Amino acid sequence: MLCDIRSSRELFKRTTEMKSSPLLGEARARLMGSLFGHIVLALSAELSLGATEAALPPSVRLVRCLGVVILLFAIHVAAMRCLSGYRERERKGQGFLLALMIFGVVAVSVGKLFSLALINYGSQHHMWQGVGVGSLLYCLPFAMPVLIVRSILGLQAGFVAALYQALVMGAYIPMSGITAGLALTTSIVACIEFHRVRSRSAYLRAALKIGLAALPFALFSTVLYPPTGALDIFVRFAGCFVGGVISGIVAVGITPVVEYLCGYASDMRLIEMATLDHPLLKELSVQAPGTWNHSMVIGMMVESAADAIGANPVVCRVGAYFHDVGKTTKPLYFAENQTPGDNRHGKLNPSMSALIIRAHVKDGVELSRKHRLPQVIEDLIAQHHGTSKIEYFYDKARKEAEEAGNDPESVDKTLFSYPGPKPQTREAGLLMLADGIEAAARTIGDPSFDRIQGMVQKMINKVFSSGELNECELTLRDLHIIAKCYTRVLSGIYHQRVAYSEPAEKVSEVPGAGEAARSVEGDKKERRVENLKRLGVE
Ligand SMILES: [Fe+2]
Ligand SMILES: [Fe+2]
Repeated sequence: MLCDIRSSRELFKRTTEMKSSPLLGEARARLMGSLFGHIVLALSAELSLGATEAALPPSVRLVRCLGVVILLFAIHVAAMRCLSGYRERERKGQGFLLALMIFGVVAVSVGKLFSLALINYGSQHHMWQGVGVGSLLYCLPFAMPVLIVRSILGLQAGFVAALYQALVMGAYIPMSGITAGLALTTSIVACIEFHRVRSRSAYLRAALKIGLAALPFALFSTVLYPPTGALDIFVRFAGCFVGGVISGIVAVGITPVVEYLCGYASDMRLIEMATLDHPLLKELSVQAPGTWNHSMVIGMMVESAADAIGANPVVCRVGAYFHDVGKTTKPLYFAENQTPGDNRHGKLNPSMSALIIRAHVKDGVELSRKHRLPQVIEDLIAQHHGTSKIEYFYDKARKEAEEAGNDPESVDKTLFSYPGPKPQTREAGLLMLADGIEAAARTIGDPSFDRIQGMVQKMINKVFSSGELNECELTLRDLHIIAKCYTRVLSGIYHQRVAYSEPAEKVSEVPGAGEAARSVEGDKKERRVENLKRLGVE
């Protein structure tokens, strides 16, 4: 009984602590901000799309607007609970998504006004007789904002945008549910079609598929609203493709502007950046070839794992290319760029070495800002080490303190830890894991499949138990898939080939060469053990 009372007190205390925690306060503020954004979206639809409707009493309009706000917000809350990809983007992309939806509402109301003006002009000049406003509905770019959201914020945010679009269009352009269905179907097709955007022609393909998806609704409307003639039928069916093409053209024109103004990046912009033409990558390949090679291998690893767990493979690959650009300022202080016997840290004390190594994250972020890299890449640079410890130098500092007769606990941990933040997205989590695993893979003496698999598992367990993945959405199932992908890619790269029966160079014929080769092999082995210790694997 006493235990129950104690535990309920404990529970109450914890709940009170949670209620007053800054994280909860931040979440509540985000939720309120999001509610405000949804109110603005509903009001803009009411004032633009609703204004062109037949006069409705203000009370009806108020109820309609309230209903739309409640439903929009319900969609948002449900998506936050169920869709991890949407939850990740919501932190920074919610305002952006709502702004694009408002832009979509304005674009559709402009299209609707233009249709009305066209019909009026036609009736005055006895042109396109019998074609109604309802038939021109198919020319409206319902899928346009969803195309932009999908290309910049990803699939799950695109699906949420599609639901928003269907709700708003269904509420303000009522035609027996045809509008809601048309907006929803074309938007979902836009989302699915944009799975892999590798060139501008993807927009054209999306436009055609949007048109095809709208055709059944045009057919359905001919049953519900019998056409007045052949021209009316033609306008309805051709309008499906006109709507698709307008959506594609506006999206392809607007996306680069949005990317430039808001610091976002679509997959296409990221692909454009991931070439040797980019000055930062060019400098990395010249100044720090070891880091360049490490980044390329990580790029392959994270791309394959991201594909397997449903994260964004392009963001991962390009993030991997840029994650260590900060090393270009002092490349020779990093193991992958050093030659045997040239260790710059030999003459430095551990805290100075840690300071130099920690600085590559800060330098990387600064370089990223200087070169105006997209926010998503800057975040990956900042988060790729999280708040992990630089264990090798921390242990060295503790050892030195002990040898000097001081308490090893007096060594300041913060001097040997990366500044963070911890990975906030699945892509950042993937990069953090790949970074450590690739470096460890280089140190394996005999890189057989089993050894690589064991090392990958060990490194993933180590990062997971350190708590560095606590703030990203990677699940245990994801970690299992990631381990498989990383093992497969690394085995393909580092797995030793079957030895030839005769050596390519006959070293034994050179006097003393055998001994020299053995001593070189011994040095290599020592170096591997040292590197493994540095990475915390041994
Ligand atoms: Fe790094
Ligand atoms: Fe790295």
